[in-house]
Amino acid sequence: MRSVDDAKIINFVVRGDERGSLIAVESMKDIPFDIKRIFYIFGSDKEVIRGKHANEKSEFILINVSGTSKVKVIDATGNKKIFLLDKPNKALYLPTLLWKEMYDFSPDSVLLVITNTLYDSNEYIRDYDSFIKKELNK
Ligand code: TYD
Repeated sequence: MRSVDDAKIINFVVRGDERGSLIAVESMKDIPFDIKRIFYIFGSDKEVIRGKHANEKSEFILINVSGTSKVKVIDATGNKKIFLLDKPNKALYLPTLLWKEMYDFSPDSVLLVITNTLYDSNEYIRDYDSFIKKELNK
């Protein structure tokens, strides 16, 4: 079964010079999947909790390219981990079938998300109890 220990921080190489910094993210090289979609979350207040779902097919890379946020990850046995995303070169890799909540957004937070799927609302598990049941009954 999926474990919170399968969620990993990946530190990207920063290609900096006197002109500034650049980070490149390539499929199957810097991250462990082929990129199909990106989206970014911004303008969320500090009190807001986003996510609150698990995905059957999508794997994710989350990067605060600006500002900071936190991600709480929960597996079906109830183990939890909290990750602080606070640098543009610090990415969180989330495999499928982990419950996630994004929160504590700074006013300048831009949370970039990269994934291996096109958007399909049917692969989202948005009910926590259904997620637990589904995983435990495997
Ligand atoms: P939602 O999944 O609720 O965001 P979060 O990941 O923060 O929980 O998505 C918000 C809205 O945007 C919802 O109406 C679905 C839509 N959406 C897309 O159309 N495409 C996408 O790739 C994503 C992630 C969301």
